[in-house]
Amino acid sequence: MILLVGGEKGGSGKSCLAQNIAVFLATECEASIIMVDCDPQRTTSDWIQARNNNQLTAINCVQLFGKIRNDLLSLEQHYDFVIVDCGGQDNLALRATMSVASHVLMPLRPKRRDLKTVSHMDDIVGTCMMINPDLRAAFVITQCPSLPNQAKRIIEAKDVCRTYDIDVLDAITYSRNLYDDSEESGLSVVELDPKGKAAQEIRNISLELLQVASVAQLQHQLQDKQTNALRGHHATTRSQEKNSIG
Ligand SMILES: Nc1ncnc2c1ncn2[C@@H]1O[C@H](COP(=O)(O)OP(=O)(O)OP(=O)(O)O)[C@@H](O)[C@H]1O
Ligand SMILES: [Mg+2]
Repeated sequence: MILLVGGEKGGSGKSCLAQNIAVFLATECEASIIMVDCDPQRTTSDWIQARNNNQLTAINCVQLFGKIRNDLLSLEQHYDFVIVDCGGQDNLALRATMSVASHVLMPLRPKRRDLKTVSHMDDIVGTCMMINPDLRAAFVITQCPSLPNQAKRIIEAKDVCRTYDIDVLDAITYSRNLYDDSEESGLSVVELDPKGKAAQEIRNISLELLQVASVAQLQHQLQDKQTNALRGHHATTRSQEKNSIG
């Protein structure tokens, strides 16, 4: 599966979400992951470097730019999830990824300047869905204020998203220092405080995006996929052997 965390608003939390979802899927769901960093700022590549220096669960990462459609399709053959961080502009890599991705997650803060980008993102998703109609696109509201008197802002942000054809996840992230603190040493919130609220936010976002009810259900789906791939491989090998004998 190719999963893009994208959007054209800088600082909305794209890299942060891509990294945390990658660690959740790798460590708690036992999925094989490769991250693709398309951002010249190298945020995700640097974070992976910090992970490797600290000997955390290994996650592969490559940097790719431009027309990356075929590269992504070939990576998808070898990993359960290819997680793409496209940086903060509408560029070729973003559109190329949307043309082959199964999911695109677009983070937005509940702020006017972030919400102003919704209309353009809706256009881009609409265009890409002409060639990739199975794409599941969703907005997610991030870095939400936790004060009860600010809850209206979160509801209003979701309402803005709902005026377009794209889903908005129920799950959100609140503004928490743990997100920033974990990045420093290549960690994720799932590793730094597995029982904490931030880790639960990442689990909720990942499972809702992938439309699975639990980690166990996702693990079953991944096992079935591997078994089917293996059966396909054996069937091909057997027919090749038969042909060579015949
Ligand atoms: N829920 C959150 N609570 C607190 N801080 C957060 C949260 N999500 C992200 N951040 C922080 O916000 C900053 C920007 O996040 P991030 O780098 O992921 O944004 P981005 O969308 O990838 O930016 P860019 O467009 O530059 O690539 C980081 O310092 C990150 O730690
Ligand atoms: Mg980024």
